Amino acid sequence: MFISFEGIDGSGKSTQARVLAETLRAVGHEVVLTREPGGSPGAEEIRALVLEGDPDRWSAETEILLFTAARRDHLERTILPALDAGKIVLCDRFADSTRMYQGLSRGDLRAQVDALHSLMIGREPDLTLLIDMDPAKGLARAKGRNGTEERFEDFGLELQEQMRAGFLGLAQEFAARFRVIDGDRPQDVVAADVLAIVQAELS
Ligand code: ADP
Ligand code: TYD
Repeated sequence: MFISFEGIDGSGKSTQARVLAETLRAVGHEVVLTREPGGSPGAEEIRALVLEGDPDRWSAETEILLFTAARRDHLERTILPALDAGKIVLCDRFADSTRMYQGLSRGDLRAQVDALHSLMIGREPDLTLLIDMDPAKGLARAKGRNGTEERFEDFGLELQEQMRAGFLGLAQEFAARFRVIDGDRPQDVVAADVLAIVQAELS
């Protein structure tokens, strides 16, 4: 089973993915916890290119190519081998993030994102957990981390508002695999919802 976590910056995806991995391992599942951009050595190198530096370092079109290149490497080397071995793959962001951040934020490039996806990736998660969150609160949480990977956070609150609305739209477009979870609650309450949804899908 291939599960992705999506949502705006600071919504709690990484936290929830980590907690779910621990919980599933404790009951005997083999779990691979991974993330995008990154998740394989080559894709982690691309991660530094896209997440550090000036917001205008790359055009949206160039970013589509870079994120898709990273995803292809991640898929070949990490995700598909794990799925073939019968493991559960938990991925912090996947192609839906490209549909939003590159497909929506600087003009409508969704068609280009989808075309490259079907040509080079051709795989969707079985289940996508959208952690929904007020963008101002999410951005405050993300800024609290104080790291160097701030390129997208530096696009600001307006982008996050647009991304939140876009993700909710994607959840309707791909209703069969999306579940929307309210992320603006204590961590353990959100985690209980996540676990209930995943257990229902596994059984
Ligand atoms: P994301 O991966 O979506 O950017 P993180 O899981 O890294 O989000 O969380 C961002 C910050 O918010 C972290 O400092 C984390 O500890 C904190 N956080 C995560 N979930 C919650 C929650 N439910 N309530 C309050 N703070 C949270
Ligand atoms: P991530 O490390 O998940 O950041 P956060 O924990 O703040 O949510 O992802 C870093 C940034 O990369 C995030 O702002 C969204 C962006 N991104 C894209 O623009 N396109 C993509 O395809 C992916 C996977 C991420």
